[in-house]
Amino acid sequence: MEPGQQNECEGLIYLNNAATSWPKPPGVIAEVTKSLQNPYFEQGRTTAGGAIDYPAAARETLANFFHAEKTDHIIFTQNATDSLNQLIHGFTWNATAPFHTITTELEHNSVLRPLHALEMNGTITLTTVPFTHHQIRLAAIKDAIRADTRLVVMTHGSNVLGSVQDIKPIAEYLRANDIFFIVDGAQSAGHIPIDLTCMPVDAFVFTGHKALFGIPGIGGFYLPDPTAIAITKQGGTGSDSGSLRQPMEMPTRFESGTHNYPGIASLYAGVQFIEGVGLAAIERKGRELTQSFIQALKKTDTIVIYNESPDLPIVSFSIDGINNSEVGFILARAYNVITRTGLHCAPLIHQRIDGGSGCVRASFSWFTTLEECRVATDAIREVAESAHR
Ligand SMILES: Cc1ncc(COP(=O)(O)O)c(C=O)c1O
Repeated sequence: MEPGQQNECEGLIYLNNAATSWPKPPGVIAEVTKSLQNPYFEQGRTTAGGAIDYPAAARETLANFFHAEKTDHIIFTQNATDSLNQLIHGFTWNATAPFHTITTELEHNSVLRPLHALEMNGTITLTTVPFTHHQIRLAAIKDAIRADTRLVVMTHGSNVLGSVQDIKPIAEYLRANDIFFIVDGAQSAGHIPIDLTCMPVDAFVFTGHKALFGIPGIGGFYLPDPTAIAITKQGGTGSDSGSLRQPMEMPTRFESGTHNYPGIASLYAGVQFIEGVGLAAIERKGRELTQSFIQALKKTDTIVIYNESPDLPIVSFSIDGINNSEVGFILARAYNVITRTGLHCAPLIHQRIDGGSGCVRASFSWFTTLEECRVATDAIREVAESAHR
């Protein structure tokens, strides 16, 4: 079966890849199937003949992909939300007194909500830095820093504006000032090259089910120095089992319990697929699709585009006079075009760009075609024009 040709989804134009990518590459589906056809195998935990040790293989593949120096410091979790929670709460567990934290208006609720909860219970005080031209400037972070600032959490790529943040200078500044820096790469990983040797962040978060082409339920983080993060989950690791103390070695330090083996297999195959196609080609195609989409929407005055030059293949828009959810509903029902509507779990961005009412988001993947973009933009323009007749 070819991508996009699966039975009841025949003819579907799926433009919701920033939520979860679809279709998955055939190699991903094959690897998931293979992982389920063979017994679970992981060196140190289980013994099973010639099956692939997917956790070890995927760790190696991801470490190469992100240019992460320490393979065993790639940790698997359920998703980016799980990673961010483990890192944010793990960082605060080590704190002996309340401290100041900085985040940004670009964040997803997977950052904003854990930080809000910690602010509410008095563990942290929080400053939220505004974006300027869809970017978080180093100067804005510097302005927010106080004597007791110990943590900064920010996104690499915005899931609404599609803007990629210039992480390197921020990371270098924070490192020089001994402030722990967690970066959420949920939207950037798989779309653009990420070289962690040139981007000195303290923790980098990724998710499997978006541009890395894995299945839902797998994600992770890279944590070069684990000592800053307390262990918030304990359990079986298959190592040092006579001791009631959680092992301190990486990766078992943060990986208790049985892994999401098919999920890890999917991530392994997803990254291999990307490497086969090449990130440069993926990036180029993303820009081409995005620009053709934006140029087409610009032909209709009543379509408001919120991000005319995104770095990631994401276009956010609304139509004057029609509710966003109605637009999404009509596109799905009448045109078989799947978008995402609402606040996209990033409420602070919407307070700035659309007064908090949300927008319609179209997001593309390697499998999206220019023809699909043409059909979708014709449909959106038709909806807009019919509303104003
Ligand atoms: C920027 C950003 N961070 C975090 C997340 C959460 O990702 P996950 O679904 O893997 O928990 C998302 C998901 O949309 C996102 O866009």
